[in-house]
Amino acid sequence: MREKEETQVNRDLATLATVPEPLLAWYDENRRILPWRELPTPYRVWVSEIMLQQTRVEAVKPYFERFMKALPDINALAAAEEEQLLKLWEGLGYYNRVRNLQKAAIQIRDEYDGVMPAEYEELLKLSGIGSYTAGAISSIAFKMCKPAVDGNVLRVISRVRADDRMITDAKVKASVEQDLEGVMPKERPGDFNQALMEIGACVCIPNGAPLCEKCPLAQLCKAHAQGRETEFPRKESKKPRTLEEKTVLLIRDAEKIVLRKRATKGLLAGMYEFPWVEGYHTAEEMVEYLAKNGIRTLRIRPIEDAKHIFTHKEWHMKGYLIRTDELEERELTTETEDWLYIHPAKTRDQYAIPSAFAAYTKYLDIALGKWKYEE
Ligand code: ADE
Repeated sequence: MREKEETQVNRDLATLATVPEPLLAWYDENRRILPWRELPTPYRVWVSEIMLQQTRVEAVKPYFERFMKALPDINALAAAEEEQLLKLWEGLGYYNRVRNLQKAAIQIRDEYDGVMPAEYEELLKLSGIGSYTAGAISSIAFKMCKPAVDGNVLRVISRVRADDRMITDAKVKASVEQDLEGVMPKERPGDFNQALMEIGACVCIPNGAPLCEKCPLAQLCKAHAQGRETEFPRKESKKPRTLEEKTVLLIRDAEKIVLRKRATKGLLAGMYEFPWVEGYHTAEEMVEYLAKNGIRTLRIRPIEDAKHIFTHKEWHMKGYLIRTDELEERELTTETEDWLYIHPAKTRDQYAIPSAFAAYTKYLDIALGKWKYEE
């Protein structure tokens, strides 16, 4: 009985029911003009929502436009080469998102005659589409009353209701989805979901104090009334990330540079990187290592350290810039040969390099993200 009472308090449906009106009024005045909002076709909404899952709106915009130009519809996406997909996604991170996007495009082509299904339950069967994305597509593109609950929305709703349940618990997310479905305005489900996301991203922010003075929900927000905004949402604490130390080698002759293809499985699968060695090493050790790989060093100098944070690990890198004898041009030739000697301009259209190496690209006249060359 006690558990049931607590659940009733946490769910606070009466408060939730007062959210849509001020929320939508605020959205009408404050919504951002975004490319996928102005033309919300199912394909555009889908691609944008996948890009936005781990990445901020401002960072996504140029990627989205470029992706739409290169692969304007589901059939084009289904037929694309993996190398092109990775290049279009270069710098966005979480590259399995784009692999799943293509798997789903193939499913849609083969099982749904190339037409994105409109039903929430069918959307859920597609690769990479969970309840959040299915809710976003069905509400924004098909005007169906399905919620789209991500971390931002969970934060807003847990504050509004001063809900102290753990948002990391899948049952809590499912219960928030059910409750929101009950209060969504039938005539504007897509705007309702996007308004909640917008409040979460711009007002009810995750780190530091939320901007309650700008919030249309401040009057009804339980956490605000109690001055406890930053106590919500409650989450399980995360495991600390593992640290990996690497020595990265930026190798060039007068014209060409050296890249290495990563394994086709695991972190950053199939992408291209600068050769690196586990651990920190001296210049002498690196000269010897390169000699073993058929590269004769003319000059070597240390360059700055760099750090990259992934979800579960951190790379701490030391770098050396290395000038070599002439490198005989070679692209990937055999299965085992994974070092390429290429002109840096080739990385404009090919060879996706992860942003973990962004600090070092300037040494080799490379910019990550193709449009950066056009700026
Ligand atoms: N974050 C995720 N999806 C979004 C959307 N449709 N609008 C704004 N921010 C978002």
